[in-house]
Amino acid sequence: MSTIIDDRLNDLKDSVIYHFKINHDKDKLLKESRVARYNAINEKNLDRYKRLGFIEKNDGVTYDVEDKEWFNTQKDWKISSKINDDPNSETERLHNVFKEVLEVDNLGPRFLTQKEGADVHYHIDGETLCAINFLVRGDQTPISFKDIGYFYYDVALINTNHSHSVPKQVDEDRVLFKLRIKQMTFKEAKERLIAKNF
Ligand SMILES: [Fe+2]
Repeated sequence: MSTIIDDRLNDLKDSVIYHFKINHDKDKLLKESRVARYNAINEKNLDRYKRLGFIEKNDGVTYDVEDKEWFNTQKDWKISSKINDDPNSETERLHNVFKEVLEVDNLGPRFLTQKEGADVHYHIDGETLCAINFLVRGDQTPISFKDIGYFYYDVALINTNHSHSVPKQVDEDRVLFKLRIKQMTFKEAKERLIAKNF
């Protein structure tokens, strides 16, 4: 029996995460993640990259993090630089699928890693309004949406405009493949996915 409270929680959940399935080669993604180059996501690095012009305008590598002290120097949460767009790669295949589904030119594909034992504090992604995340490794740990709850997933559309965190990563390093959506909100991206039967 559903109650008003259950319905409210479901509505909240539906506004931050949308689980869906797509056949994809996780082993291939893991191999591709190993040859990417990574940089820690922290204030110091991001400032430096902006100064040096490594981060292009609108590249989506900005974060609004609550815990400034942690964000200043943390080293356990990293983002890859631009991924090689080899047409035979799994990253490029998935990128092409979702460019077509969402009718956009670019989804800035990146790998992200989180070291075992480390947690990623609450934050909002900068220009990235929402993202399609593929958990390549480390799905033992959920994502937390502030004031909503914890969710496990394999593939999901994530509302990165709602404050989120990842609690202490357990058992192994976490590896994510992320398609970053700046062109539309979570709600609109979700509607497009559903319209294409995802
Ligand atoms: Fe995030």
